[in-house]
Amino acid sequence: MADTTFDGVDLQALAQRIGTPCHVYSATAIRQRIHALTTALHGLDAQVCYAVKANSNLAILQLMADAGFGADIVSAGEMLRAVCAGIPAQRIVFSGVGKSADEIAQALDAGIARFNVESADELHLLQRIAAQHDVIAHAAARINPDVDAGTHAKISTGKSENKFGVEIDEAQRWFADSAQLTHLRLDGLHVHIGSQMLSLGPIRAALQRAATFRRELEADGHTIRSIDVGGGLGVCYHAGHDTPVAIADYVDVIRRELDGFDGRILLEPGRWLVAEAGLLLTRVIRVKHGGQRKFLIVDAAMNDLVRPSLYDAWHDIVPLGPDSDAPQRYDVVGPVCESSDIFARDRELPPCTAGDLLMIKATGAYGASMASTFNSRPLAAEVLADNGRYAVVRRRQSIHDMIADERSAQQWESA
Ligand SMILES: Cc1ncc(COP(=O)(O)O)c(C=O)c1O
Repeated sequence: MADTTFDGVDLQALAQRIGTPCHVYSATAIRQRIHALTTALHGLDAQVCYAVKANSNLAILQLMADAGFGADIVSAGEMLRAVCAGIPAQRIVFSGVGKSADEIAQALDAGIARFNVESADELHLLQRIAAQHDVIAHAAARINPDVDAGTHAKISTGKSENKFGVEIDEAQRWFADSAQLTHLRLDGLHVHIGSQMLSLGPIRAALQRAATFRRELEADGHTIRSIDVGGGLGVCYHAGHDTPVAIADYVDVIRRELDGFDGRILLEPGRWLVAEAGLLLTRVIRVKHGGQRKFLIVDAAMNDLVRPSLYDAWHDIVPLGPDSDAPQRYDVVGPVCESSDIFARDRELPPCTAGDLLMIKATGAYGASMASTFNSRPLAAEVLADNGRYAVVRRRQSIHDMIADERSAQQWESA
């Protein structure tokens, strides 16, 4: 029988009180990851900027703030969340290919540490807005090293065909012309080649390109104050199948490849810090015997956790009941009207019946943060467990919350 407690909290009792579906996170597990990463980085001039997109709940961001971590953001909304959670603007870096003029202005006003610039257009827009605001913006060139991250195509970002970053030749020209950028200090490099990487080879290759480029730039008289190594470290979604890299080995690669660099190293982990510290608690609505398959229809759906639909991602699923009987094969599906609303196909599980609780595991990253209200399904509750206690850190959305900003077309205007 599976352990029915999570960070000391009884999941059966929690489901009774809070209802399902419900995202549950373990503060203890997140603190353990924070500690392991901090320990591995010992002796390096390093700043961790947690990738807010992985899980942007304020309570999770507060755990990062408490650890002295900064934030990697990709929107003004994420910046607001980070600042609200107590992460100082001076520890925030802004990545993303589509920063708008308004978002850049807000980030400059807030005084964030650095912009990871992804195009020449963005570089010049940043210069213009910084000049208007009479401030100096600190910028890093996000290079696209054309390295295959060896992960799912939809979460690969470092190949030349991807929209992210710029070729090293182009970044080189930015540095060569940077004296003209009166309100911008282009003094950093940034590289992030993808997510859920389970081997060090691609990370090493990308860092080697960044390190070589750094040496070339310094030889040309440029000062590089920071190298941002991005995020991307993978986690275990499939027990006995996925073997994540040890954090100490990952940091050793950074140490080795950036040896001789005396500036600051920035890291932007997201998934590795929070994925395995979360689970999605869901209840079986009914078992349906189809023509060819047996369906376990649960009350969570693709709107609560889109990774399986979007990336065919595997998540281990564990029922909370006894597992003594002969296992059955089920398709575990949600109620949404899409055939892609499926959490597992032909998965062997102990026999389940209506009312049983299931844990969909390792959903702490890119779970709630990618949720939607598709099919007018309210956003699920989120709960933080911490050593036998729990706090509701997002109440379940009500239908009234969901439609609050909508109205019938009564007032018509011309534009
Ligand atoms: C620029 C950047 N940094 C960091 C991350 C975080 O990646 P991960 O959650 O895989 O660590 C991402 C994810 O897409 C990203 O785009």
